[in-house]
Amino acid sequence: MSHPSILFVTSEMAPWVKTGGLGDVAAALPAALHRARHDVRVLIPAYPPLLAAFPQASVVAELPALAPALPPARLLAAATGDGLPLLLLDCPPFYARPGNPYLDPHGHDQADNGLRFGLLSRVAALLGQPASPLAWRPDVVHLNDWQSALAPAWLHYEGGAASVVTVHNIAFQGNFAADLLPAIGLPAHAWRFDSVEYHGQLSFLKAGLQLATLLSTVSPTYAQEIQDEAFGYGLAPLLRHRAGALRGILNGVDTTLWNPANDPALAASYAANRLAAKRDNKRALQLEMGLDAAADRPLFGVVSRLTEQKGLDLVLTLGEGITQLPAQLAVLGSGDKTMEAGFRELATRFPGQIAVRLGFDEALAHRIEAGADAFLMPSRFEPCGLNQMYSLRYGTPPIVRATGGLADTVVDVNDATLADKTANGFVIADATPHELWLALERATRSWHDRKLWHRIQQNGMRRDFSWEHAAHDYVTLYRDAIAARP
Ligand code: ADP
Ligand code: GLC
Repeated sequence: MSHPSILFVTSEMAPWVKTGGLGDVAAALPAALHRARHDVRVLIPAYPPLLAAFPQASVVAELPALAPALPPARLLAAATGDGLPLLLLDCPPFYARPGNPYLDPHGHDQADNGLRFGLLSRVAALLGQPASPLAWRPDVVHLNDWQSALAPAWLHYEGGAASVVTVHNIAFQGNFAADLLPAIGLPAHAWRFDSVEYHGQLSFLKAGLQLATLLSTVSPTYAQEIQDEAFGYGLAPLLRHRAGALRGILNGVDTTLWNPANDPALAASYAANRLAAKRDNKRALQLEMGLDAAADRPLFGVVSRLTEQKGLDLVLTLGEGITQLPAQLAVLGSGDKTMEAGFRELATRFPGQIAVRLGFDEALAHRIEAGADAFLMPSRFEPCGLNQMYSLRYGTPPIVRATGGLADTVVDVNDATLADKTANGFVIADATPHELWLALERATRSWHDRKLWHRIQQNGMRRDFSWEHAAHDYVTLYRDAIAARP
């Protein structure tokens, strides 16, 4: 089996639907596989932005109601500009809703998410089974996060393709009341502790981790961490049980979208050997965000979902201190309402020194990566993290906590790492205000030493984060899954 055919299943995909890193990965990894001439197709719900982007998508299958609570649906075929084939799962009662794919306008989970993503999982499995309405059949079905992780249950009970479940964030598990089981057409005998049942609920992610042929997560360190109670969100014992089936494959960076030498969002382009123009981006960012045009102090940037995970409560605690370093802070984020209020208040207290934009703004995210001097990401856990890699590429050394993908990509500045040219950022061991404060002081001192800072920037910018390596590792994973299928 030299070229396995792959169905890549996702609940979001940049640039059309994106709430976080999964959207970026779902755009870049299948594209990298397609470039390497693998037969890969992406299955994704036909949300309004996708239907608008592909008005010429053609109906390739009509799906009858597959279970009592699942409406009929259709599969539409389309292709991205690069020719990557898409299968859009069109079911207007489930997916024709504006805004965030998971939340209602009040920020709560949509009440029927179990059905909505039950359908996605059911169809993903079906396309890997003999009963598929398509002539094309994948050798392996690649599920991503809880929204499609239930697919291996049908493949397990009814037979079909090999399956791989990738965990992008184990904190989100998709746990629902038991009556979902018959509603989405799973057999009654699937209600077992070693199948879909999890503490009296039906758990999408637990089912996938239990029943998929092979498992992966998005960094080697996170693959270890989630086997530990402190990171496993209750699933550590199961992951220890399946440790032999679990791999950690570090995400890459889409270098066509994230390249400071050719980024349409920026005020000025630059590269590792042309760093001077980065200063123009700082000035432009200060102007855009209403910060004083100070050149004598570092500007720290944040682009993030505002959640407990990201450790930004520490930045809130240190806000005033940052202005006294002295340094500036530019924040772009959205999420937790209390945290949003905290950042808004900080910006009001320190006008000109701290600027905050609440919301989701892709272009501003690029300008912060380019215009900030250093990037703050003190996450409590971070399965991979893409922003620290974008920061490295943009010559904006990240300040991170040693966890998950942050530990696998950011190398703390010290004599040894400067000597071997790996030093590229600032790493703290624990998510405490004190440790972060020491790192901010250290980064500020280093920034004032122009030659030293330049070396740190260069080390980060020269590191190769392209998707080709990861895509290669996924192909190995697919082949192993096909070989391991019972
Ligand atoms: P996570 O997936 O946990 O949110 P990642 O670092 O893997 O973290 O990916 C986050 C992605 O979402 C990045 O592409 C980042 O630029 C983007 N992002 C997060 N918040 C915002 C925002 N408020 N505006 C624009 N982009 C954002
Ligand atoms: C999740 C994780 C993040 C990771 C992303 C893509 O959202 O929180 O760390 O980079 O998935 O794999």
